[in-house]
Amino acid sequence: MKQKVVILSGSGLSAESGLPTFRDAAGLWRQHSWQDLASPEGWRKNPGLVLEFYNERRARAWTAAPNSAHRAIAALESAYDVIVVTQNVDALHERAGSTRVLHVHGELAFARGTGPARRRYRIDGAPINIGDLCDEGTQLRPDIVWFGEETQHMEAARDYVAAADKVLVVGTSLSVYPAASLVDAARDDAVKVLNSLEMEAVPQGFAFHAGPATRVLPRIIEEWLR
Ligand code: APR
Repeated sequence: MKQKVVILSGSGLSAESGLPTFRDAAGLWRQHSWQDLASPEGWRKNPGLVLEFYNERRARAWTAAPNSAHRAIAALESAYDVIVVTQNVDALHERAGSTRVLHVHGELAFARGTGPARRRYRIDGAPINIGDLCDEGTQLRPDIVWFGEETQHMEAARDYVAAADKVLVVGTSLSVYPAASLVDAARDDAVKVLNSLEMEAVPQGFAFHAGPATRVLPRIIEEWLR
């Protein structure tokens, strides 16, 4: 039986692929208002502004490349039963070769209708414009979980964390709930490791490894593979 590993990742993992985080010095929510750009209210007030913001993020994420930390995570599958639970909306885990990825905050590469059916469409790096409609005739929006909306796959994610022999948290400030509460589901006897540039409060039982993910993760994962 392969040991079970769960990776909980955040935007810090994709920072060295050129994609911004949210709360660091140059983070998105330091430069923009999440109320205007990532909330149902902001969408109602000015959908054009919201679409422009996500069109720019989508185009940038679509041309970004996975880094050595993404690739190290994918390499784990050679010896472990790996589930990636990510808050990231880019496709860099999949591009690096990870085959089981749960996106709890949605995906930039998809659009969805705003009608009851919430039809979902793969759009890769393409823009969404005002007037782009789903086949129910409703305006398309980014398939992203905004503040105040329901986080996806949480029950499955919690079960995977609770069953994991090893839990590796990378590149997240653990400041957004309920995703941040997933660390509490980790077993006492599981190996628990957290990598970030800095961390105000390291969750109980986690060993903290400070530093850039591209330097820290390949080292940890090489040891686990050995
Ligand atoms: N290597 C490792 N960690 C890094 C790196 C790096 N190169 N660069 C930054 N970090 C760390 C920071 O120290 C910080 O702890 O990544 C974390 C980024 O935290 P946030 O900006 O808060 O991003 P994240 O935790 O992903 O945000 C969670 O908030 O805005 C919402 O929906 C959005 O999914 C997002 C959620």
